[in-house]
Amino acid sequence: MQSPFPELQLFITGPTYVRPEVRQAGMWPEFGHRDSENRKRFEPIMKNLMNLAQAPEDYQVIIFNGSGTTAMEASLRSLVADGETVLNLSVGAFGDLYHKLAVVNGKQAVQFKFEPGTCIDLNRLQNALSEHKPAVVTLTHNETSTGVVNDIEAACKLIHDAGALALIDGISIFGGSPSDISKTRCAMYSTSTQKSLGLPAGFGIAFVSPEAMAKAEKVTNRGLISDILSQIPRASKFQTLTTPNCTLANQMYAQLEYIVNQEGIEKRFSRHLEMRDEVHSFVDGLSGYELFVPEGSRSPTLTTVRVPESITAAKLKEIKEKIRERGYLFDPGYGKLNDALEQIGARPVFRIGHMGDINMDMLSNYLKILKEILPA
Ligand SMILES: Cc1ncc(COP(=O)(O)O)c(C=O)c1O
Repeated sequence: MQSPFPELQLFITGPTYVRPEVRQAGMWPEFGHRDSENRKRFEPIMKNLMNLAQAPEDYQVIIFNGSGTTAMEASLRSLVADGETVLNLSVGAFGDLYHKLAVVNGKQAVQFKFEPGTCIDLNRLQNALSEHKPAVVTLTHNETSTGVVNDIEAACKLIHDAGALALIDGISIFGGSPSDISKTRCAMYSTSTQKSLGLPAGFGIAFVSPEAMAKAEKVTNRGLISDILSQIPRASKFQTLTTPNCTLANQMYAQLEYIVNQEGIEKRFSRHLEMRDEVHSFVDGLSGYELFVPEGSRSPTLTTVRVPESITAAKLKEIKEKIRERGYLFDPGYGKLNDALEQIGARPVFRIGHMGDINMDMLSNYLKILKEILPA
């Protein structure tokens, strides 16, 4: 059967464009997840993930069936004990998600928010740590709703000095920029496949520290899928705890071999910075449009653009449809953020995802279309 669906090139912030070679690998043979064929895929996958993360050797990588949220939920269920406070830092919608996960899992959670478009302010973080004395702190490496990247190394230093464990959501940056796990020594760093790794969605990925493994022993009601201690015996044998998506595993094998051994990790990270700079100069050249995030906290994998006075969030959705006719999927901004901005009389933002396997030629072609269609 031919695909009944249109070929759209995705410039949203995930899922992202999947290369033809990776689509092709989806046709490789299925396999048994407790058979020797499993290890042929998952041993290189897990070793390449550790390599890409530049994670210390004493960390364990876990592949969860699910998505990034599955790994985030597991971090809370495994690492926040009864009676302890978890402090959820939020610079946007995905920081809010970490807090929601803590609340719905019955954890004693305190949310600490920063202005949309800004990063974690270290002085305010220091005060919050002194006031709430958390045992665990959650933070977002790259906030996809606002396009802010946080200085996780500096934040984790304060968190650790205050005697707490750090749980990091690295979902929209992992694979496009260093994860800095060896610098932060965070307890758990969670990510997923469908963003800067350039794969379809389907696995949550986590890097877990030895301190986290020891701490989990003291936490009750960890669940099963969400228990890092149930996952680790399988993960250390290069397996998943439950039946994996074989199609995605084959694609992940192919893509990680490509990233690590063909494109090269440093080149991949540099390409992301070059694409970010290209988008910034494009926006600088558009009259009435401006970058939403101040210099110093601008994400390497996505950019948020504040529109001129004449453009509303509703208009951005119309623009999306015009761009669809040209074969591209435009991102009209994170809905709740634009609602909140318009409510206070501020101008909404749209987003350009420049992550994963999008290359400079693809990006330049897309920016040409945007220039034609975006109202002056
Ligand atoms: C920063 C961030 N955290 C968490 C999530 C949720 O990830 P998933 O959809 O893989 O569960 C997303 C998805 O957009 C994200 O961008």
